[in-house]
Amino acid sequence: MRAVTWHGKRDVRVDTVPDPAVEAPDDVIVQITSTGICGSDLHLYEVLGPFLDEGDILGHEPMGRVVEVGPQVTKVSVGDRVVVPFNVSCGTCWMCGNGLYSQCETTQVREYGNGASLFGYTKLYGQVPGGQAEYLRVPFGNTLPVKVPDGPSDDRFVYLSDVLPTAWQAVQYADAAPGGSLLVLGLGPIGDMCTRVARHLGVEQVIGVDLVPERLERAAARGTTVVDLNSVGSGEDGGDQELGDVVRDLTGGRGADAVIDAVGMEAHGSPAGKIAHQVTGLLPDALAAKLMTTAGTDRLGALHSAIDAVRRGGTISLSGVYGGMADPMPMLTMFDKQIQLRMGQANVHRWVPEILPLLVDGDPLGVDDFATHHLPLESASDAYATFQEKGDGMVKTLLTTAAHTG
Ligand SMILES: NC(=O)c1ccc[n+]([C@@H]2O[C@H](COP(=O)([O-])OP(=O)(O)OC[C@H]3O[C@@H](n4cnc5c(N)ncnc54)[C@H](O)[C@@H]3O)[C@@H](O)[C@H]2O)c1
Ligand SMILES: [Zn+2]
Ligand SMILES: [Zn+2]
Repeated sequence: MRAVTWHGKRDVRVDTVPDPAVEAPDDVIVQITSTGICGSDLHLYEVLGPFLDEGDILGHEPMGRVVEVGPQVTKVSVGDRVVVPFNVSCGTCWMCGNGLYSQCETTQVREYGNGASLFGYTKLYGQVPGGQAEYLRVPFGNTLPVKVPDGPSDDRFVYLSDVLPTAWQAVQYADAAPGGSLLVLGLGPIGDMCTRVARHLGVEQVIGVDLVPERLERAAARGTTVVDLNSVGSGEDGGDQELGDVVRDLTGGRGADAVIDAVGMEAHGSPAGKIAHQVTGLLPDALAAKLMTTAGTDRLGALHSAIDAVRRGGTISLSGVYGGMADPMPMLTMFDKQIQLRMGQANVHRWVPEILPLLVDGDPLGVDDFATHHLPLESASDAYATFQEKGDGMVKTLLTTAAHTG
């Protein structure tokens, strides 16, 4: 089959690799029709190289049709249309039973002290072959794949794999009350979807921050108050005010009730991080891996903005992914401000029952035209490069395979 594979920093190719096969009796094989490229994939493209091997198959936002099932699979059948969550979660352990699918105790990667394995996401997360491919082996066939109805296009359902539950969880963890204010840092796919979910759930004032014009426009068009990071002190041209001041001006002087950081470690405006980031790119892998987890390539620009812009007693919800532990956190300020900091990978299945009805009856979240690009799987190499540069107005790309129809 054809699959998107990692070959080095900023080197992603489409190769011919062996087809996956049923290995465990409850495995299913899914023929992928659509598969997203995620902001998280950019971390693999840029900084997580030490944890990948050449040829690793990327991707964790796939959907398609079941083409083969193991002998113990009873919950899905050949021909079913399914979305595959990005967490490899068993659905039956204590963590899964408590809705914490991203901490699944069956697939935890204990070697690295990490939670559930993820599709297509480095040795840190189990080195499981990913879903930017023509076929995907999906374990836990009775509990993991999410069956979706025939009819609407893939665009309607594919974001159930990651973007929707991630945004949904971010908004829930932010604890933004109806009638309250929410600041969303980063208007990539995750941040953009957070603004949509928040408004759908009745949050009155939604403020979004980014520095890419198309991303700001896209959020503004759906009613978000947008702030261009370039126009404030922390941005390139630098205004007089810091972002926190701008947010306080917009929120009666207090700051936002809740802040979602949907940026993560590729944050713009963290020069110290940038140097570490470049240094790890130059070190031999073993050393770089060590530096990445301990000495840190964290780029905490957005997190520091969040801590500044949240009101006292407010909540910060982190969905951006952070990699290391180096940058000392402003613990004193966090403590003094009585901030509740919630974070973690999304527990996909925990939110599916709440989200799925919004995808079946109409399209209140606007997923049908959420993707800015639909491109053939074969063009993945260019698509990664464009996404990394934020070129061509690209916000969200769905790669489609030959099996994709309509
Ligand atoms: N928790 C989860 O389960 C989960 C799931 C998916 C993605 N993620 C993470 O969420 C983050 C966002 O994902 P995405 O797909 O939207 O990625 P993305 O890279 O497209 O979006 C990030 C956005 O942040 C903007 N940005 C950069 N620096 C900023 C700053 N200092 N202030 C405000 N905005 C800034 C960028 O211009 C970009 O638009 C990534 O870190 C990704 O790894 C987490
Ligand atoms: Zn993703
Ligand atoms: Zn589990």
